[in-house]
Amino acid sequence: MNISAREKAREAFVTHFGEEPQGVAFAPGRVNLIGDHVDYNDGLVLPMPLAQGTAVAWAPASQEVEAIARDASGETDSFRLSVIPGPDGSWRSYLRGMAAIMPEFGLPVPGMRLAIAGDLSRGTGLSSSASLEIALARAFAQAAGNKNPGAVAMAQAGQQTEHRYAGVQCGIMDQMASAAGISGHATLLDCRDLSVEHIALPEDWAVLIVQSNVTRGLVDGEYNLRRQQCETAAKALGLASLREAGSELVTQAALDPVVKRRARHVVEETDRTRQAAICLAAGDLSGFGAILNQSHASLRDLFEVSHPAVDSLVTDLQTLIGGRGGARMTGGGFGGAVVAVMESAALDPVIQALRQQRRAAALPCDAIIAWSGRAT
Ligand code: GLA
Repeated sequence: MNISAREKAREAFVTHFGEEPQGVAFAPGRVNLIGDHVDYNDGLVLPMPLAQGTAVAWAPASQEVEAIARDASGETDSFRLSVIPGPDGSWRSYLRGMAAIMPEFGLPVPGMRLAIAGDLSRGTGLSSSASLEIALARAFAQAAGNKNPGAVAMAQAGQQTEHRYAGVQCGIMDQMASAAGISGHATLLDCRDLSVEHIALPEDWAVLIVQSNVTRGLVDGEYNLRRQQCETAAKALGLASLREAGSELVTQAALDPVVKRRARHVVEETDRTRQAAICLAAGDLSGFGAILNQSHASLRDLFEVSHPAVDSLVTDLQTLIGGRGGARMTGGGFGGAVVAVMESAALDPVIQALRQQRRAAALPCDAIIAWSGRAT
C-alpha cells in the first residue's frame, strides 16, 4: 500500500520524538499546464496542484526548532530562533530560510519540533521544494494559531527562501500553485498582481505527467541566465517587464538575436496561456492541445530550455494523442517532466502504447495521472 506523505511524517515524528505530533500540515507539488518561464516576467501561468507533496508533522517547542527529514536518511537540524543558521546546500536551507523570512511577511514563527516527509522526487520538475516551503509555512502558522495564513504571504516567503537560501532566482508560480491551488482545478495566476482564478478541469479530460528520466542537475546557472536575458530585453525596450511588451514591439526591436528569441517566447507564451485558459473553461480540448504543442516548440527553439530526451518523449505523446489533446515539457526544463492532456477515455491506451514503445527502447516509463475525470 502507498502510505501518504502525511502518515509518513506522523510516523517519523513519533519514531524520532517519542510522542504524537499535535498536527500535520501538507502542501502539494504542482504541474504547470502552460506558461513556462513567464512568471518572472510578470506573465500569466496555468499550473495545477498534485495529490503528491510534502507533509510536516509538528508539536510546539519553546523558542527552538528541532527537525528531522525522513526522506533525507533521517538527517536532523536544530537551532534557536534567536540565532538561525545560514543555508548549507541541503533541505535544511529551506527550513532555515522559511524560519528567518516568514516574519518579514507578517507570519509569526514559533518554536516547533517537526518531521518532514514527502512523496515527490526531487529534480523531477514537480516543485518538491515549493511544496516543502509551503508545508513548513502551514505548520508554523498552525503552531502559531494562525488559522488563515494568506497564500500570497506564504508564497512570497517561499520565493525569497529560494532566492536567498537556495540561490535560485525563481519566479512565484510554484509557491503560489502550492499555496493557492484547489484540487481538480487549474490555477490561472497573473504574476503581475498575483490574482488567481480557479478553472475546473473538464470531467472528460485527463492530465498525464511522464518523466523524461533526465535529472535536472546544475541548471540553476542556466535558469538565472534566462532571467537575466529577459531583464536585458525589457530594459532595452524601456519597459518594467516583458509583460508590457507586445509581439510587434519585440519583432521590430533591434535586440541581440538570442535576447530577441527569449523575449519572443515570453510575449507569445503569455498570449498562449490566456488562450489556453479560455479553451479550458470552454472544454475545447483540441484548441487547448494545439496551444500546448506550440508552447513546447517555443520552449525548445526560442527559449532553448528543452532536452533531446524530452523532445522525443513529447513527440511520442503528441503522436499517440493525435488532435484530441497535446503535450509539452513542463517547468524549468533541461530534463524533468512532460505534461500531456487528452480525453479520459484515451488515457489507458496512451499509457499502454507509450510503455510498450519505451520498453522496446529500454527506457523507463514513470507516469503520474494528475487528473482523470469521467471516461465518456
Ligand atoms: C521553475 C521556477 C518557476 C518558473 C518555472 C518555469 O519551476 O521555480 O518560478 O519560472 O521554472 O516556468
